[in-house]
Amino acid sequence: MISAESSPNAHRAASDNRPSQQKTPSMDIRDAGLADHVGHARDSALDRMQYRILKWISPEDPPYMSGEPYKDKIKVKVLLGNAVFNQLRGKVVIDFGCGDGDDAIALAQNGALRVIGIDIREPLLQQARTKARRQGVEKVCLFCTRTDEKADAIVSLDSFEHFTDPVSVLMKMYELLNREGAIFASFGPTWYHPLGGHLFSVFPWAHLIFSEKALIRWRSDLRHDGATRFGEVEGGLNQMTISRFKKIVNQSPFVLKSLEAVPIRRLRLLHNRLTREFTSSVVRCKLVKSRC
Ligand SMILES: C[S@@+](CC[C@H](N)C(=O)[O-])C[C@H]1O[C@@H](n2cnc3c(N)ncnc32)[C@H](O)[C@@H]1O
Repeated sequence: MISAESSPNAHRAASDNRPSQQKTPSMDIRDAGLADHVGHARDSALDRMQYRILKWISPEDPPYMSGEPYKDKIKVKVLLGNAVFNQLRGKVVIDFGCGDGDDAIALAQNGALRVIGIDIREPLLQQARTKARRQGVEKVCLFCTRTDEKADAIVSLDSFEHFTDPVSVLMKMYELLNREGAIFASFGPTWYHPLGGHLFSVFPWAHLIFSEKALIRWRSDLRHDGATRFGEVEGGLNQMTISRFKKIVNQSPFVLKSLEAVPIRRLRLLHNRLTREFTSSVVRCKLVKSRC
């Protein structure tokens, strides 16, 4: 269920659309071999050693970033269950954190009245619009960075662990949702999952073992968005845990109608309330507006 720095496909696509450098300096410090020195001068000896170990273990992107789990499948159906299309038939639906639009398009093709895909990354929205046109649902789907249009339901897939400010996102969802509406969300891997560091999990739980500085430095050899913290990576990574999510919802004007922490198949015998932060693959939940 890994969706490293957004879904692998989405990320790659986004990377391909990275804006080109605005101005070429007369001497690029990167070429001069100084960038490394300047950017990491304050790293401790331990950070530097960890960076070298990470480089040695994974000089390239970790191999799990293949998007394999959803190959030839409809992701929204895999994550939210077979009933999802019936539940959303004839409804106005927002897909919050829609990425390159596949799920919004699937909802449109399966009976939603109108689907509004929201994402912060314009290059992904552009791809989503093109796909919607090709698949003949451009009149049903709208892809944009924001909306004020009210919806009967909000779907959010693999995104709650990416929102920089999930509290504000929930408030925005509250504004956008009709009184009787519901949020159907699935997200993960959460932070303590073996691959909860997404790209940073060069092996299971590596993101908890290595320092943030070492991991960021390792990543900066592969991605050039200038992130200096986990939270600054393109598409966001907020270190969401299951208990933090529950706390955020409890403090919001929503109530959790249901929450399921789905066990990682190979660890299902170890999965229980005490271990679930480490042994859950994804969290699936339904939120409704609080009555008071
Ligand atoms: C892992 S991707 C998931 C994309 C898609 N839902 C899917 O399942 O393939 C997470 C998406 O959330 C988007 N995102 C992050 N912060 C956001 C925000 N504040 N508002 C809307 N989208 C956001 C990212 O740009 C990214 O496309």
